[in-house]
Amino acid sequence: MQIRELTEFDLVTLAQIEAEAQSSPWSQAAFLRCWESKFPGWVLEIEQKIVGFIFISIAASECHILNICIHPSQQRQGLGQKLLMTTLLRAKERGADTVYLEVRRSNHGAIHLYRQMNFKLIGERRNYYTTPKGPEDALVFARDLAMLDETDLSQ
Ligand SMILES: CC(C)(COP(=O)(O)OP(=O)(O)OC[C@H]1O[C@@H](n2cnc3c(N)ncnc32)[C@H](O)[C@@H]1OP(=O)(O)O)[C@@H](O)C(=O)NCCC(=O)NCCS
Repeated sequence: MQIRELTEFDLVTLAQIEAEAQSSPWSQAAFLRCWESKFPGWVLEIEQKIVGFIFISIAASECHILNICIHPSQQRQGLGQKLLMTTLLRAKERGADTVYLEVRRSNHGAIHLYRQMNFKLIGERRNYYTTPKGPEDALVFARDLAMLDETDLSQ
């Protein structure tokens, strides 16, 4: 298993994984916009095959998780946690002191993951997402990075 910075050549694969994992997936164009905006992103590979990815933005001391996804066939093996923890460390190295993210209220698996990783619920945005079933609220979570160091990777 390795985590490396993503390249433009990975974007097609990311869109494929996203389409298989998400009920309202990002389009290929959305991935391209992230890339063109120079948002940092990493892929997680097993035997040189991409099985997950993450995109973030960093502005001043704030990091925002834009998307994190693990292929359905590889979920519940600790990979999402590993990818997110590695990203928190990279964000801290780049000057972030707080990480924010939004998640759909119905996304219980992701919410479980964030709570387990010490993200705290700090608010909600009504009707933030457009889904095939209609609008859905976002829950907003945040985690302070002050106490984070490399030893957290072994958790
Ligand atoms: C959310 C996601 C990234 C988690 O990735 P993952 O590799 O399956 O997560 P992990 O195996 O690292 O899970 C770590 C812990 O998080 C919690 N968790 C993760 N997925 C869960 C689920 N579906 N149900 C309940 N708890 C879950 C569990 O506590 C789990 O530990 P355990 O397996 O020992 O019980 C993955 O489910 C995914 O890609 N989903 C689709 C995309 C998505 O929803 N992204 C988030 C957008 S905000």
